[in-house]
Amino acid sequence: MNYPSLFSPLKVGPYQLKHRVVLAPLTRMRAAKPSLAPRPLNAEYYAQRATPGGLLIAEASPVTATGFGSPGVPGIYTEQQVAGWREVVDAVHAKGGVIFLQLWHVGRVSHSSFQPGGVLPVAPSAVPIADLKTGTADGKAVAYETPRALETAEIPGVIDAYRQAAKNALKAGFDGVEVHGANGYLIEQFMQSHTNRRTDQYGGSIPNRVRFLLEVTKAVVEVWGANRVGVRLSPYGVANGSGEPDPMPLYSYAVEQLNPLGLAYLHFIEPRSSGAGRAEVNHQNVPSAMVLFRPIWKGVLISAGGFTGDAAEAAIRDGHADAIAFGRIFISNPDLPRRLQRGFPLTPYNRATFYGGDVAGYTDYPEHNELAQA
Ligand SMILES: Cc1cc2nc3c(=O)[nH]c(=O)nc-3n(C[C@H](O)[C@H](O)[C@H](O)COP(=O)(O)O)c2cc1C
Repeated sequence: MNYPSLFSPLKVGPYQLKHRVVLAPLTRMRAAKPSLAPRPLNAEYYAQRATPGGLLIAEASPVTATGFGSPGVPGIYTEQQVAGWREVVDAVHAKGGVIFLQLWHVGRVSHSSFQPGGVLPVAPSAVPIADLKTGTADGKAVAYETPRALETAEIPGVIDAYRQAAKNALKAGFDGVEVHGANGYLIEQFMQSHTNRRTDQYGGSIPNRVRFLLEVTKAVVEVWGANRVGVRLSPYGVANGSGEPDPMPLYSYAVEQLNPLGLAYLHFIEPRSSGAGRAEVNHQNVPSAMVLFRPIWKGVLISAGGFTGDAAEAAIRDGHADAIAFGRIFISNPDLPRRLQRGFPLTPYNRATFYGGDVAGYTDYPEHNELAQA
């Protein structure tokens, strides 16, 4: 057997995991339309990747109708969506898996064609994403619009949407939730100085910019208890027009403030793979998030981004991380834990089928058939 550290048990909140190969949250845009509820195909996809005592983090799911920026993404704010997620959760539990849901609001990474009433997307400040194109609801590539800055009085309502979504996830039977504070979406827009030009208590100083992350996390914790809530961050990331000039003070403060909450885990995206959802990237000469923040974070640390089995084993063995989340290679290898453990070859992934569509590139990647190889 390969990788004794990766295949050792780990306690995450109340859950006793049997190994440390985690499914990273992966947007696949295959929910039912127009309900944006998960459908049986989605349950099959997650069940294929479930193992006894293995942690899956389900794809980012908008907490409210204004939180979308792409088509076919499942929501977690209607009864129908909760019922759809319940089937996903049941299918994963039937295989002994543990499943958390990632709670999402995209903020400015959207287009008015996705917004109720066709209004502008909301963000901390009216700062558009300058250098990237986005897609409209009918599939045209266009420049990002300038978002509308949230009024201070609106912010409690956005936090309430996260709280309600957390309740919905509980009702759907999930084992926990992950707050999506990464990749240039709403929470990170609040955190970072170039997207947050606010002059109220949510802007300016680092504590003010981190306030929204903490208020959202605490609202979710009120619903779930801290030991079933994780947070995902991407310091030094550049996805979706993000990027903080001097990340250490900002992210050190955020991690220090999250420490006393007693969360299930903190989940970092390694800067080398920032933006992997949009393109093949391998950023060079960038720091390692797990190495930088391990000494600051007191709880379970999950790292993601460009890991192979060897690199994952080394990270855990050397004490840099407690578990490793795999994205792209878990898409194309539904039996990834077994393949890594047994040293079976990996199937390459096909980026063309990452987003949208149906079975192809979703549930039709085969399990390794060792008998066929013999
Ligand atoms: C198709 C695709 C969809 C993704 N969707 C999400 C998402 O919903 N939430 C998130 O936090 N990260 C998302 N990511 C980032 C992955 O979780 C992960 O951090 C990244 O792919 C790097 O890990 P890897 O090198 O193992 O693929 C996505 C990446 C890909 C390739």
